Amino acid sequence: MKVATHHLRCTECAAVIPKDEASSNFRCPQCNGLYEVVYPWSDVTPGVKAEPKSEAQSGAQTSTFSDLVNLLPNPSALRWLWEERRTSTMAVDQSGVWRFRDLLPIVDDFEKVVTLREGNTPLYELPRAARALGLNWLLAKHQGMNPTGSFKDTGMTAALSVAAQRGFEWVACASTGNTSAAMAAYAARAGLRSIVFIPEGKIAWGKLSQSMDYGALTIQLKTDFDGCVKILADLVQRFPIYLLNSVNPYRLEGQKTPAFEIVEQLDWQVPEHIIVPGGNLANSAALGKGFTEMYQLGLIPRRPKVSIIQAEGANPLYRWFTDANRVMKPVVAETRATAIRIGNPASWRKAATVIDELGGWCEQVSEQEIALAKAEIGSEGIGCEPASAVTLAGLKKLVALGKVTAEERAVLILTGHTLKDSQYTIDYHRNELFTAAEKAQLTPADQASHAALRRPPIVLEADSSEVLRVLESYMSQPQPV
Ligand code: F0G
Repeated sequence: MKVATHHLRCTECAAVIPKDEASSNFRCPQCNGLYEVVYPWSDVTPGVKAEPKSEAQSGAQTSTFSDLVNLLPNPSALRWLWEERRTSTMAVDQSGVWRFRDLLPIVDDFEKVVTLREGNTPLYELPRAARALGLNWLLAKHQGMNPTGSFKDTGMTAALSVAAQRGFEWVACASTGNTSAAMAAYAARAGLRSIVFIPEGKIAWGKLSQSMDYGALTIQLKTDFDGCVKILADLVQRFPIYLLNSVNPYRLEGQKTPAFEIVEQLDWQVPEHIIVPGGNLANSAALGKGFTEMYQLGLIPRRPKVSIIQAEGANPLYRWFTDANRVMKPVVAETRATAIRIGNPASWRKAATVIDELGGWCEQVSEQEIALAKAEIGSEGIGCEPASAVTLAGLKKLVALGKVTAEERAVLILTGHTLKDSQYTIDYHRNELFTAAEKAQLTPADQASHAALRRPPIVLEADSSEVLRVLESYMSQPQPV
């Protein structure tokens, strides 16, 4: 008898369904809640290592779902295996998602997964930002270093592999640009046909160009992201399209793997804080799930606090977090960080549970704070897109509030590459990003911080004496620290 490796469980009413019985919109028919993927180890009490049952206790070893916990290698064996796979020549081993496949058994055939060798992203130090904040150290997990330039690749390899193995021909998503880029690329690799719904005029050009480059049918709707989600939700009920928005619980299985990588890169030490940007709120939920599963399996002794940062103009979770009655009210979203321009986040309850269970906070940051943080990350030679920079801007607030202290280790999740939205960067350095009214609101200290970071291009005649004269005036200025 073949035993299912996983089920789907509603995160609202806890109803459990077999893995292929979710409706096309991935909503629970009883309560409209979202599903999560559950494994035999999902209900192990956190902190208590799953003890394999003896053969006598479990009878025929794999006769039931929960008996599968017997098949898990012990934590040291898993750590060794995951590291060993990195040197393999097989695509499934080289992928920074699938080398952790023991903890995401969601497909029937691992050898046929759709992969672009995603994951295995760098964990960089940010010494200047750390110094400015009075922290001993600060790290950035750069998910923008994935094949299509954002963290979405880790989720897409997972969910698109499920779509391909279940025989779907069409896949679709609504997106602020990164999900669509990732979906289009992975669909093209798998030979599936993809449809992208994006808000017209409200996504960065780099992202729009990607979905066209990878051959998706790109539909720009005259609405915002939340409006695109509504149209697609209606469409998937009428056509056999596989929905690849983050309501699809398999996306989160891929997106939990950076949690594994972070502790692996820290030699299995757990940082105190993870700081994540919040939009539709699936990524924070996925990372929380990753840390919890490692904790349940005895791979780590405790979990980090996960804090979520939103843009002031797209801050429904922040409002929920600071509301005494904890009511979630959608907002009409507006921010230049277009990736997180989301007013009605689908996964807010999952993210809220992560904050409540792991500890952590929700903060909001202004447009000016985002721009400054982005320039600071850029000036360390790393760079990221605006939505990712909310993490540094939010960390400044958490430090000021005493929530993150000098000796604690914080990891910023940089979700997208700086080239995703180069127009934003150019406008910033040319001092054309903000309106005169916005600039007038800045304090002299803020103005000086921006001025120290701005590097507008200089246009000169092609004359070496002229170039030398300008260079000399620059060389006489001190090097910024
Ligand atoms: N950062 C970037 C660069 C993003 O593209 C997104 C979401 C987020 C952060 C927020 O992650 O939604 O899981 O809270 N982008 C989606 C998209 C919505 O369509 O590309 P989240």
